[in-house]
Amino acid sequence: MDIKISPSILACDFCRLGEEINRACKSGADMLHFDVMDGVFVPNLSFGLPLLKAAKSVSAVPLDVHLMIIRPLDYIEAFAKAGADSITFHAESESDIVKTVEKSRECGVRVGLSLKPATPAEECFPYLDMIDLLLVMTVEPGFGGQSFMMPMLDKIAKIRAEAARRGIDLDIQIDGGVNCETAGLAVQAGANVLVSGSFLFNSGDMSAEISRLKAL
Ligand code: DX5
Ligand code: ZN
Repeated sequence: MDIKISPSILACDFCRLGEEINRACKSGADMLHFDVMDGVFVPNLSFGLPLLKAAKSVSAVPLDVHLMIIRPLDYIEAFAKAGADSITFHAESESDIVKTVEKSRECGVRVGLSLKPATPAEECFPYLDMIDLLLVMTVEPGFGGQSFMMPMLDKIAKIRAEAARRGIDLDIQIDGGVNCETAGLAVQAGANVLVSGSFLFNSGDMSAEISRLKAL
């Protein structure tokens, strides 16, 4: 399975958003990750529709939106219209999972479902054949710059095994504390889409780091 890289915009220099997006695109990013936080689902606020719309006008790659919000169903259409190419929402949110998947399909975006660290792998099994991507959070959602949680490797492996058993071609994304070392372990466990914020944006040579990640 090809490894895809999704740099997390949360870690970029927002005073130079356009340049940062260009840097990531030119460095080989396959998509760009947008962390939307509402201060309710997670104890932090980030950004939303206007920033996504601005990013869409300059990005050369698809926009991968991660909704850490309490009622994602209410906002799927707005994010799709603002330029999201894929939308990932949390299984732990208050919205009905099947209805949120259906709404996303109606809006023509790729569909991702995400699990917080404490949510068992099995919670996503009923939905595996209706989604494109499963995001295993490898930190507690809400903040960039945290350390990768090693016990999540087992969760990734369980989900990859279940998808393989059922013949489902599923993207398994990881998010939080991803660098060359932790990414190597996650890829071995079955992850193929790597979100990385501080590691990539703080590196002097993003292009070299993306190449290293893709070669894992
Ligand atoms: C955390 C976000 C992540 C975050 C990752 O809630 O979902 O996407 O930006 O940042 P790093 O790579 O710095 O852990
Ligand atoms: Zn994220």
